[in-house]
Amino acid sequence: MKKTNYILAISAVAMLAWTGCHQTGSCHDNTLVNPQFQTQWTRGADGVIRTAVPARPEGQEHALALKTPKLDVVRVAFVGLGMRGPGAVERFTHMKDVGLNVQIVALCDHEKSRADNINKKHNLNLPDSAIYYGEDGYKALCERNDVDLVYIATDWNHHVPVALYAMENGKHAAIEVPSAMSMQDCWDLINTSERTRKHCIQLENCCYDFFELNTLNMAQKGLFGEVIRGEGAYIHDLSGFWKHYWKTGKEDKLGWRLEYNKLHRGDVYATHGLGPVCQAMDIHRGDRLTTLVAMDTDSFVGKALVEEATGKPCENFQNGDHTTTLLRTAKGKVIEIQHNVMTPQPYSRKYQLTGTLGFANKYPTQGYAIEGKKVKVEGVPNHENLNAHGFLPEAAKNALVAEYQHPLIKEIGEKAKKVGGHGGMDFIMDYRVVYCLQNGLPMDLDVYDIAEWCCLAELGAISMINGSAPVEIPDFTRGYWNHLKGYKMYKTENTWY
Ligand SMILES: NC(=O)c1ccc[n+]([C@@H]2O[C@H](COP(=O)([O-])OP(=O)(O)OC[C@H]3O[C@@H](n4cnc5c(N)ncnc54)[C@H](O)[C@@H]3O)[C@@H](O)[C@H]2O)c1
Repeated sequence: MKKTNYILAISAVAMLAWTGCHQTGSCHDNTLVNPQFQTQWTRGADGVIRTAVPARPEGQEHALALKTPKLDVVRVAFVGLGMRGPGAVERFTHMKDVGLNVQIVALCDHEKSRADNINKKHNLNLPDSAIYYGEDGYKALCERNDVDLVYIATDWNHHVPVALYAMENGKHAAIEVPSAMSMQDCWDLINTSERTRKHCIQLENCCYDFFELNTLNMAQKGLFGEVIRGEGAYIHDLSGFWKHYWKTGKEDKLGWRLEYNKLHRGDVYATHGLGPVCQAMDIHRGDRLTTLVAMDTDSFVGKALVEEATGKPCENFQNGDHTTTLLRTAKGKVIEIQHNVMTPQPYSRKYQLTGTLGFANKYPTQGYAIEGKKVKVEGVPNHENLNAHGFLPEAAKNALVAEYQHPLIKEIGEKAKKVGGHGGMDFIMDYRVVYCLQNGLPMDLDVYDIAEWCCLAELGAISMINGSAPVEIPDFTRGYWNHLKGYKMYKTENTWY
């Protein structure tokens, strides 16, 4: 541990000892902040903790609204074929049905059998694709000269090494979520994308769910007035998956996720909740995240899971069962993000927008509350009598959704539902990746989105070991957060959805 971090960690322990908390066996070890990370931080006289921002190398330019040459065919290679990867391969076989050209050139997994058997096991009927496997198999795949895009669905520890290697070898990288796990990861991806001028894309499918897209359209058309507060979450009881995600032997490459949670504090899966909220708030397109504070419960369920798996006491499970992070923006807005993959409760990504004129909410009740005079939509009954004290009645909600249906949903929503992937959102996401690459357009989600949405993990951990102190969120664009005006999904160079 670096000296500054060590001194701060020691003071944090002293402070916690003084407050008399963390006396039970379920506590975190407060001397550790994700010990393998090396981020330096200092605490200013104002009490705010700041991490180092590496200077942009001379001659290197930002990658905002990055455009790359059009591609007639997007030649794709997939790395990581566990639970998630094969579904992506399958979705790409449907791109021709929506007028896009892709070629599946190569398939790779650490386990040879997973790469070999994908055709048979998933009934894909793929033409011959090259197969790679082993810990470093992805390197030869990235070095091929007939690949444009490397699509990464490995475990979290391999996201960044594969993406960096892909970009260094002249490929665009699309990474499953969470795409980056540490501040070092965030800066490495940014610097590499800026230097190589290759796209580094976050595969955040929840930005393409039907409610989120329609609501984004409403927000962009001003239906909610100024959106001043947002909520998001990843609350998903993974009890059915933990056995699969626990290493059962040295060679078992599937057992990474519980171990990762054991070793890392902070919101390690913030993107599902934070992504759609940041889009509606134009983050790094007119506003930016400035500060966060985080607080978690101790680990009760996580710790017990490890004890069950090992038959031994687990004294130090870093990730709290429920973590809450509050973020503030430069324009005085607030976002609340929650993470809980441990306790039994209904699935929720929350997704809530509070605006000066209206309100949207997805879980558990999907609906809108809007001042009656704003709902001037044909088909809305008695709109004069509507008020925002309750959700809009069903008929009014349906009329509103029909009026504000996101053009992307109009375009391929039905096809997406047929292809599937979380009800269709996964296909819309993949469609957009390929569409933008083929047409040489800026991506919907850029490398700065990755950094902003993924930094909650390490920055949140730093906040928590310092008694939930405020931590500055760096301007990952390094001076350009106000350069783009408003969030855009490009349709052509000069038009957007
Ligand atoms: N967006 C979503 O809705 C969603 C849903 C599920 C999972 N995910 C994400 O997808 C990713 C994969 O999750 P999963 O549930 O499929 O995990 P998994 O463990 O089932 O699959 C990961 C695969 O990566 C392979 N792998 C490990 N090291 C490798 C290497 N060096 N080279 C090539 N392959 C390697 C493993 O062998 C395994 O097959 C994770 O990032 C996860 O967070 C996203």
